[in-house]
Amino acid sequence: MRFAVIADIHGNHLALEAVLADIRAQGIEDIVNLGDCFSGPLTAGKTADILLALDAVTVRGNHDRYLIEQAPETMHASDRVAYEDLSAHHLDWLRSLPFTAVYRDEAYLCHATSANDNLYWLESVSPDGKVHLKPLEEIEAFAGGIDFPLILCGHSHIPRAVRLSDGRLIVNPGSVGCPAYDDDLSYYHKVEAGHPFASYAIMEKSGGVWVPTFRQVVYDHQVMADLAAQNSRADWASGLATGWLR
Ligand SMILES: [Fe+2]
Repeated sequence: MRFAVIADIHGNHLALEAVLADIRAQGIEDIVNLGDCFSGPLTAGKTADILLALDAVTVRGNHDRYLIEQAPETMHASDRVAYEDLSAHHLDWLRSLPFTAVYRDEAYLCHATSANDNLYWLESVSPDGKVHLKPLEEIEAFAGGIDFPLILCGHSHIPRAVRLSDGRLIVNPGSVGCPAYDDDLSYYHKVEAGHPFASYAIMEKSGGVWVPTFRQVVYDHQVMADLAAQNSRADWASGLATGWLR
C-alpha cells in the first residue's frame, strides 16, 4: 500500500502543481491532505480550484478554520488576502472539512494534534525561539487512544518521522507551499526549511511496517516570491525565494 501525504500548501498553486506531477510520475494516485490549504499572499483561488478537483481526503487546518470563522476585517493579513481570492464554493468546501479523519483504516489524519489545530505535535519552542524535537514521552502523550499504526500531522512545516515505543509512526510531510515562516506562539520563532523546494511525503507499507520517503520538488518558486513581494510581504518573498527569512 502506497500513498502521498501533502500539507500546508498555503495558497501556492505552482508548488502544488509540481508536487502533484511528481506524485503522478511515480504512479501514485492516492493522496491525503493535512490542511492549511489557502492562507498566504499568493494564489488561493487557483489552489482551491485544483484541490476541489483533486477530491483528496482532507482535514481542516487552523488557517482553514480562520477563513470560515473570523470576520474578514479581523483576519491576519495572510488569511485576509486569501479570503479575498476565494469564492463562496471554496469556503463551503472548507466548511465541509473534518477536524480529523481516518484513511483506509490505517492512518489517522490531523492538522496539528488530535485535539488542537494550533499546537506542534512533534516540536517544542523554547523561550529563546529555538524549535526542537520534543521528548518522546511528550509526543506519546498526545497519541493516547489513537489506535492506528500511522499518524499523520502537519502544521510545523518540518518534515519528520517519529516512531513511538509501541511501533506506531507519526509523520509530518513538511510544507508544499511555504518553506519558511515566523510565529509568536508561544514564543517568537522561525521555521526555515533552508531551501525553496516544495516538500511532501510518500508512505509505503512494506513487510507490515509503514516507511516514509520525504521528497523535495523543484518548481518556479521565484514567480511566487515575486508575487509575495508585489503583495507587500517581504517575509514570504524571502522564504519562497530562498527557504530562509531574511
Ligand atoms: Fe497550521
